[in-house]
Amino acid sequence: MRAAIASAAIAGAVVANAIPLDKIKTVNARDVDTRFPYTGPAVPIGDWVDQTINGNGKGFVRLTEPPAVKPSSSSPTNNINVISLSYVPGGVNIHYQTPFGLGQNPTVHYGLEPFVLYSTATGASKTYNRTPPCSAVSVTECSQFFHDVQLTNLVPGATYYYQIPAANGTTASQIMSFTTARNAGDRTPFTVAVLNDMGYTNAQGTYQQLLKAANSNAAFAWHGGDISYADDWYSGILPCASDWDVCYTGPGSELPNTPPAPYPAEYNTPLPAGEKPDQGGPNGGDMSVLYESNWDLWQNWMNNITTKIPYMVLPGNHEASCAEFDGPNNELTAYLVNNKTNSTAAKSNLTYYSCPPSQRNFTDYQFRFRMPGAESNGVGNFWYSFDYGLAHFVSLDGETDFAYSPEWPFVRDLTGNETFPTESQTFPTDSGPFGTIANNNWKNNSGYQQYQWLVNDLAKVDRTKTPWVFAMSHRPMYSSETSSYQANVRNAFERVLLNAGVDAYFSGHIHWYERIWPIGNSTIDTSSIVNNNTYLTNPNVSMTHIVNGMAGNIESHSTINASKVLNITAVLNQYNFGFSELEIHNETTVTWNYIKGIDGTVGDTLTLIKRNSSTATTYPQPPHWGFGSLRGFFNNAWSNLNCTWSTLNV
Ligand SMILES: [Fe+2]
Repeated sequence: MRAAIASAAIAGAVVANAIPLDKIKTVNARDVDTRFPYTGPAVPIGDWVDQTINGNGKGFVRLTEPPAVKPSSSSPTNNINVISLSYVPGGVNIHYQTPFGLGQNPTVHYGLEPFVLYSTATGASKTYNRTPPCSAVSVTECSQFFHDVQLTNLVPGATYYYQIPAANGTTASQIMSFTTARNAGDRTPFTVAVLNDMGYTNAQGTYQQLLKAANSNAAFAWHGGDISYADDWYSGILPCASDWDVCYTGPGSELPNTPPAPYPAEYNTPLPAGEKPDQGGPNGGDMSVLYESNWDLWQNWMNNITTKIPYMVLPGNHEASCAEFDGPNNELTAYLVNNKTNSTAAKSNLTYYSCPPSQRNFTDYQFRFRMPGAESNGVGNFWYSFDYGLAHFVSLDGETDFAYSPEWPFVRDLTGNETFPTESQTFPTDSGPFGTIANNNWKNNSGYQQYQWLVNDLAKVDRTKTPWVFAMSHRPMYSSETSSYQANVRNAFERVLLNAGVDAYFSGHIHWYERIWPIGNSTIDTSSIVNNNTYLTNPNVSMTHIVNGMAGNIESHSTINASKVLNITAVLNQYNFGFSELEIHNETTVTWNYIKGIDGTVGDTLTLIKRNSSTATTYPQPPHWGFGSLRGFFNNAWSNLNCTWSTLNV
């Protein structure tokens, strides 16, 4: 199936746009299927009033963020709008984005001194048929050409300075800096900023604290999926339903830092007279109503962070396609399939072909970042690993490429003797597979390339150099908000991770902060609980699990009635946006701190200690120990644990 689809994909994926084709790298793995035509509007816009790209004076005042490079001209013809760093072995990948091509290979000047950038590296560019194209959008707010330049053979743990020179109308960047990763085995303590589910609306506080970390203690950021929430553009055309208030009359989205702190001034921008408030709440706070513009806005916004520290990402469901589901009266079907504005449809017929081709199959996600999949024998931005000091980090794809994954491969849509699904058998978020599936047996986890890669990657870890191993995917294995996908993620990955002695598994997707008690095979491991804020590792038996999905986005927080919180949950915060800092102290101790976006205070602390270390037996209980004694604690919290757990529907 994949080979047949690939030929169609390549034909539709690359546009020359005045750039010699030999300067543009084709992305062979994109695999967008175009057998059925897209029949929606030329440019999907989620604002019924303003159907134009640049505005007709009747629509919303849309938010913009400054580009990575301020253009030297007031009317630039091209510009460097986004710069985003990531690790590659022995160095850093400089990814940058422009609306138009460069006319030459992308280039970066760099060196160890800020005023003598003695080295130059060149890379490659790629592009896709964006909807709408940047020719129809403001130059400083649009990305359509994506450039990657790798700086390798760098000194570990060193600060380098870099500058992107001007080309084909762009302005040269200022001279900026980054610090390379420390070698595996380097015992120097370091901190990682871990975040999940970060959009634009509601994330201002997280952004401010994340920026502080990027400017001070964070070596790099690790974003576990749901990046920008670009696909929520259609919230602007869906009326509210009883269970869905991200909609054009929705009061449910909470503005950042409210209450009690004031929200950002731009959220006070008055809406045009007679206009209903859109995404973000009654005071505005609009992201955008274009899928691609939301990506542009978010990436421009994050430049202050992504130009300074490597920004490592993995896929979430919001990266899959332009839409995830329809509204109560199938408004989206009427729009995207029938090209009817402000209408309804008899039933939802959303399919894979309801989105423009460039908005299917994680296309934006594949182009707008550059992770070290190839360098770690993984696949692109989907699954990969890297070392830093005493730790090995594993990024997993919790959306595709395992049995019963949340986003389906076409093979799962088939019935009978079909080779391809019919149009009606597909769904907008159908994606992948990005690796192989043995014999197309999509129900068999061990036949997936991702599974085999994970087994091999973990087997190769040298624990004398990197005693700590951390894994993350977008989807949790355990939560008080139970769902069937959690069992599928457990079935795919949990036993492999436990057998390899992985120390902790982080996730997002659920928009709150939740720390689970040490757990393995759906059983709480009480032997690994030192106290309320201290766990022991326990290879083969249990891991630390943390749901870290509270960065903030237009969908606001997930909530649950306190009476439904399960006994697996040690800490649950449904109210504060923020991110977390993972600090690796030494071979035996790491700490995890949940940082609240509102004021930078710590919302939760966990110390994780190696079970076989002498430190574990002497570690003091924290002063805020909330139980009279360990025995009393267990008696109170765990007396009915086995009975309770066995009844859970996860
Ligand atoms: Fe998600």
